[in-house]
Amino acid sequence: MKILVTGGTGYIGSHTVVELQQQGFEVVIVDNLSNSQAGVVDSIKKITGIRPHFEQFDLANSDKTSEFFRRHYDIKGVIHFAAFKAVGESVEKPLLYYRNNLVSLMNILDSMIANNVQNLVFSSSCTVYGQPDELPVSENAPIKKAESPYGNTKQISEEILQDTIRSSKIQTIALRYFNPIGAHETALIGELPLGIPNNLVPFITQTAIGLRQQLSVFGDNYNTPDGTAIRDYIHVVDLAKAHVVAVTRMIEDKMKEPFEVFNLGTGNGYSVLDVIKSFEKVSGQKLNYKIVDRRAGDVEKVWADSTFSNEELGWKASKELDEMTASAWKWEKAYRAKVSQ
Ligand code: NAD
Ligand code: WQD
Repeated sequence: MKILVTGGTGYIGSHTVVELQQQGFEVVIVDNLSNSQAGVVDSIKKITGIRPHFEQFDLANSDKTSEFFRRHYDIKGVIHFAAFKAVGESVEKPLLYYRNNLVSLMNILDSMIANNVQNLVFSSSCTVYGQPDELPVSENAPIKKAESPYGNTKQISEEILQDTIRSSKIQTIALRYFNPIGAHETALIGELPLGIPNNLVPFITQTAIGLRQQLSVFGDNYNTPDGTAIRDYIHVVDLAKAHVVAVTRMIEDKMKEPFEVFNLGTGNGYSVLDVIKSFEKVSGQKLNYKIVDRRAGDVEKVWADSTFSNEELGWKASKELDEMTASAWKWEKAYRAKVSQ
């Protein structure tokens, strides 16, 4: 059973490739390496014993995408991770984000239709909910006006998918991720942000290892128990496993609608200070941080209602916050040791 994983050398994609291979799927990766490294393919082989087929090209190139699908006409499903994801950069360069994220999706859909490939799992985001009116936030909550061009690409993508489904045989599961963190237990794959990290956990681990001087905590005057903002952090391996469940559900014809949406979170909210405390506990290190002003565009609190995904997918996140921060720390140490050799 052959599955195309776009963005498969990236952070969430690489962990998903491992889980797919371990469940017996044959995986083909397409990635242009705009935000990842070819060496990830070797690391995947070290973990699973199987080297996934890898092709490097830009999915925003329609000729290359259709040529690829013509050769791989026996693909049974596509898990589409490939996208740009830096919120701040998307504000600076909106057209780059719209072009990359939307054109890639449309090229893939064209090729799926042309080659009768029917199953698509799409990487969406909790960012579509903005600051929800009710917490925990369920899949039925209203979509709020996007805070950034990046967030807007996820909203528009979901709309493109719904429209395409109405006029073709394609069926889609959109997975709305909350905050994926952590790394594979082997520490052979993990998150590899280019340059200065935007996200909390890579900033914490890079500060602890000495690459950054100090973590800035963005705001301690939110309406939360300790004043810092709350998120639903989910271990990337739990997230990866949900993709295997989703693609299997499609292939086994178990979908109830041709377009289904699931939240992927733990259902628990943790503050920035909770994450720092967890990191300090598992690493045995004090973290150098200071409280600064709020970051523009940040929501105060969001966590998932995961009832629907737990019941309907039969999937549940199992890893606790300490396991998430410990695996992120193990990965940071292993990666820095490797690159300094
Ligand atoms: P990532 O940057 O690590 O992985 C994305 C991969 O896609 C990279 O390897 C990149 O090189 C590749 N890529 C980008 N554009 C491409 C193109 N045009 N052609 C071919 N390859 C291309 O990001 P990630 O954290 O693994 O995120 C995966 C998906 O999940 C993205 O769609 C992202 O928007 C979504 N998502 C991520 C998060 C998060 O916090 N990490 C949260 C919600 C949703
Ligand atoms: C988490 C918390 C920050 C860095 C982003 C995207 C979202 C989704 C997931 C893709 C917040 C605080 C952070 C720092 C801090 N991605 N923080 N100091 O903003 O919840 O979500 O990634 O779809 O769309 O917006 O994640 O990790 O950046 O921040 O205090 O140096 O940590 O203010 O409260 P965020 P994050």
